[in-house]
Amino acid sequence: MGHKRIIALNGSLRVGSSNGQFLNALEDFFSPFEFIIYPSLGDLPHFTPDGHFPEVVLQFKELVSRADYIVIVTPEYAHGVPGVLKNALDWLVSDERMPGKEVFLFVCSAGDGFHAMESLKEVLRTMSLVVKEERCLSVSSIRSQFIEGRLKNESLIDKISSMASSLIY
Ligand SMILES: Cc1cc2nc3c(=O)[nH]c(=O)nc-3n(C[C@H](O)[C@H](O)[C@H](O)COP(=O)(O)O)c2cc1C
Repeated sequence: MGHKRIIALNGSLRVGSSNGQFLNALEDFFSPFEFIIYPSLGDLPHFTPDGHFPEVVLQFKELVSRADYIVIVTPEYAHGVPGVLKNALDWLVSDERMPGKEVFLFVCSAGDGFHAMESLKEVLRTMSLVVKEERCLSVSSIRSQFIEGRLKNESLIDKISSMASSLIY
């Protein structure tokens, strides 16, 4: 088995974020990959397209470029993508190391997250990232999906297992 790596991004900055809990739960499904959770997209400055990349942005771009897969877990805000996540993605636009990278997309919200999911697919495909329909999952009622930090919904667990099993180790 070659050493493969996943970079995981959370679109919620909320302390105790349920998307964060979901990300932690995902780690088990994606073993034996190295699963790196980016600490906080809020550490990235606002994107400006003047070609200057602050050190924290260079490190972020390097981490993503070294990953074989990108996992995105995010809530929907007002039928859109949280600004902090869109900001992070904008920093990755035009980075020649990104096209062709494969993405797993989880929109974890109170509702069905339809609008954020569709918008994100469009953004990611515009960036020439690979988004396969079978690797996109909306999880509603996200805050009630856990018991003591573990996922409790068997059908959800099965869906994630099946998504993760499509990976080549
Ligand atoms: C500003 C704001 C806007 C929201 N808009 C939506 C929405 O459009 N659709 C939805 O399903 N949930 C919406 N929600 C509810 C979130 O899905 C819910 O708070 C979710 O738990 C957030 O994830 P987190 O626990 O990781 O922060 C919104 C929440 C906030 C704070």
